[in-house]
Order: sequence, then C-alpha cells, then structure tokens
Amino acid sequence: MSRRLDQLLANLGYCSRREARAWIGAGRIDVAGQTADDPGQKSHPAAVRVDGEPLDHPDGLLLLMNKPTGLVCSHDAREGPGVYSLLPSRWQRRNPQVTTVGRLDKDTSGLLLLTDRSALVHRLTSPKHKVPKVYHATLEADLPAHAGEIFARGTLRLKGETEPCAPAELRVLGPREAELTLTEGRYHQVRRMFGAVGCEVVTLHRARFGALGLGGLAPGQWRELPLDTFD
Ligand code: URA
Repeated sequence: MSRRLDQLLANLGYCSRREARAWIGAGRIDVAGQTADDPGQKSHPAAVRVDGEPLDHPDGLLLLMNKPTGLVCSHDAREGPGVYSLLPSRWQRRNPQVTTVGRLDKDTSGLLLLTDRSALVHRLTSPKHKVPKVYHATLEADLPAHAGEIFARGTLRLKGETEPCAPAELRVLGPREAELTLTEGRYHQVRRMFGAVGCEVVTLHRARFGALGLGGLAPGQWRELPLDTFD
C-alpha cells in the first residue's frame, strides 16, 4: 500500500515527520531510483531507499525473545524497565507499536513473542485459538498427588473468577518441579493455579508457545520469525 513518504519514515521509526522533510530536502531518500523532493509523495515501501538502503521491515515485525526476569511487558516506564529496551531503538519508535503477544510477569522468564501486527496479537491471544503454552515451574512445597487431576478436570475456579480454568496438563518432573501446559492466558494464571493446590511458585519459565521453542536463545536475546509463521 502506498503511503506519504514523511509518514512512512516516521511510522517505521526513522525520524519525526518534520525531520523526514529535512531528510528529503537533503536528498537522502530515493523512490524507484529517483531522488525524492516531495514529503507528500505517495510511495510504495518496497521502492523507497534511505541513504541507498531499503526500508527496515516495512511489512511488519514478528520476534521471538527469551525474556529475562526483571523486565516488564509494558510500555509504561512507571512499571519498570521493559522488554522493549532490548530492541533496536528504531523499532521502539515504530507506529503501530511493537507489543508483546500476551504478557509474562516481571519475575517470569522465557518465550515471548513481539509484533507490530495487531491482528496477529488478537489471533494468538484469543481464547478461541487455544494455542498451547508450556511453563516450567519450581515450587516452594511438594506437589500434592491430586494436582494433575485437578488441573486436567477443567473445574478449578480461581479466586475472584466465575469461569473455571480450561483443562490443563501437568507433567511432574520432581516433588517440587513440574511443567504445566495451558491453552489460555489469564492474569498470573500459572502462579494462581499452583497456589490453588498449596504450592507457591518459586521460578517460572515459559518453554514453548504452540510449536515454537527457544532453540538455544540466551536470556535477553531475540530472533526474527517470518511474518507468515502462524498462517
Ligand atoms: N502465568 C503466570 O503466573 N505468570 C506468567 O508470567 C505467565 C503465566
């Protein structure tokens, strides 16, 4: 889709619209091989070059991050340092914004998706789609023998909620260590589910999101995914 040049550059995080006018005046922008001179020129992103370089991901971004603990999934600086601070600064200025697909708590690590495609966020977080997410937890107390059965039944009602949790699969790895697979994403759901069977979570890490794993990404690292990954 063609867009005004100044808007295109501003939306992709290069500069403000005012700065875009200066960049165009300085001859830094080409469209289809011609030096641009009109900030309002409707241009197709694939035809635009900045200082001779193609535009940075004009069709959108989809990223897989290994979220470290200590960062929040929020754009609000009052909530503390955010996962967005790990991304290139140009990506932090994009509009539409890059946002997380659902959230992980500040104290949770692991697989986090980020994208500027809002349709993808809606699709992947919609309860309709039931994307399985696998969490690895260590616990403060021994798991009771009946925990797996309680989670699998689909009748567990968390405090303050009317709808019971959807059936979830527990894989016990040790007396105080387990993997829990959820197909929904309620607020603090894993911590609250373990809390409901008397086990406070000590550490929590998301290992998988649908078919995706971390594949050796170190905490704080991210990699790009093709935009059609979930098509
Ligand atoms: N459940 C939680 O309790 N915390 C998370 O970060 C994710 C799922």
